Amino acid sequence: MKKLHIHDVKDKIGKEVELTAWVHRKRSHGNLLFLELRDSTGIVQASFKKDQCEESSFNTACDISLESVVTIAGTVHEDKRAPTGIEIRVSSFNSLYPSDVFPLQEDTGTEVLLDYRHLHLRSPRLTAIMKARQHLTRYLREFFEKEGFWEVWPPIFTVAGVEGGSTLFSIDYYGDKVYLSQSAQLYLEVLINSLEKVFAYTPSFRAEKSRTPKHVTEYWHLEQEAAFYDNEDNMQFQETMISYVCGKMAAEQAEALKNLGRDPEVLRKVNPPFYRLTYDEALEKLEDGGVKKEWGDDFGTEDEYLLTKGLDKPLFVWRWPKISKPFYMKLDPANEEYVLNDDLLAPDGHSELIGGSQRIHDYDELMQRIQEENMDKSSYEWYIDLRKYGSVPHSGFGLGTERLLKWILNLEHIRDVIPFPRTPRRYYP
Ligand code: 4AD
Ligand code: MG
Repeated sequence: MKKLHIHDVKDKIGKEVELTAWVHRKRSHGNLLFLELRDSTGIVQASFKKDQCEESSFNTACDISLESVVTIAGTVHEDKRAPTGIEIRVSSFNSLYPSDVFPLQEDTGTEVLLDYRHLHLRSPRLTAIMKARQHLTRYLREFFEKEGFWEVWPPIFTVAGVEGGSTLFSIDYYGDKVYLSQSAQLYLEVLINSLEKVFAYTPSFRAEKSRTPKHVTEYWHLEQEAAFYDNEDNMQFQETMISYVCGKMAAEQAEALKNLGRDPEVLRKVNPPFYRLTYDEALEKLEDGGVKKEWGDDFGTEDEYLLTKGLDKPLFVWRWPKISKPFYMKLDPANEEYVLNDDLLAPDGHSELIGGSQRIHDYDELMQRIQEENMDKSSYEWYIDLRKYGSVPHSGFGLGTERLLKWILNLEHIRDVIPFPRTPRRYYP
């Protein structure tokens, strides 16, 4: 059952076509009726003149409810007044799969739209965002392939926290306690000993306490880990990767970007090197902006905005205090109060896109950090074990793909880039 798609209607000017699609909008002016029809490839206008189509067709079309699936037959014409410059002048019409009265309208509020996410996902805007997401994911995978990385599949049920206990979701696993993965990092560190350069694209889970426009509790995490990469190699990889996908989006998805209100030129200008501030320099910049922070404090939304407003490309904040970051980061040999790491912040307060670091590969250094942090060693024995059998310097990072897309499309809220957003108060539908 292969049907004609709306995208291909433009190649049929002057021809008779039959099209099956959803009714997206309806307008009538007496003896004239316009339906905007929608399918996965776009929107097209169908026009009905009472005296030029079967009478029964005209009457059923007038009564059709939005989101019904209909089949029309008619001739394709160019018409500047139609939303896409093309219209099908209908001769016959059939209601194939009728719809109940659709509960969503142009002015429906955000919370109701989220309750009806299963229906709202039909909107042209969300459809365009879902397509942009697929393109972005494809470009990211393409980049890893080009750089000679192996894709791997770490577990989601895990025994050990990676980013601290406070955001772990625990699960009853046949009477034992396990966690939903916060990060695949520790498992990727296993796999570099055979594959050297690996990446994984998996869901990560964070029991976030607060509701913000940049946090969800379930997100898609793209993580990289590479043997013999130091922190500098790691940061250069990040900026090359982000520039590559921005360039691809600008070059190949320009129309879609424009339709979503994003100027592709902004993305075309994202090229290495990115801006850099050490953590201490960032603190000074914040202080100059009137924000006083304690050494070791993390940055909040306002701080990130202050650091990145007006930037034309992302900013690395690197060399953080060891006390602000997890146990696995390599201490800076020049000053062991700091770690060899970076957070990559998107322009204009679009928040942290990436967290990355060089890892501790030395057994004693790792044991000392685990003790300092008072961690329960038993869950990490396998991870510590790696440091005994040919342990090489290595680095890696994690990218929040929703955050990246939110910035690329310049959207207000992270929930718009994931089909079924999970937040502290929402897990339905
Ligand atoms: O900075 P994070 O916590 O770093 C890690 O998990 C490392 N273990 C990754 C690694 O080195 N393999 O998280 C990485 C990124 C953040 O920079 C952010 O983009 C995203 O994951 N992220 C979230 N995205 C959406 N909602 C949340 N609640 C997120 N928490 C983190
Ligand atoms: Mg982070």
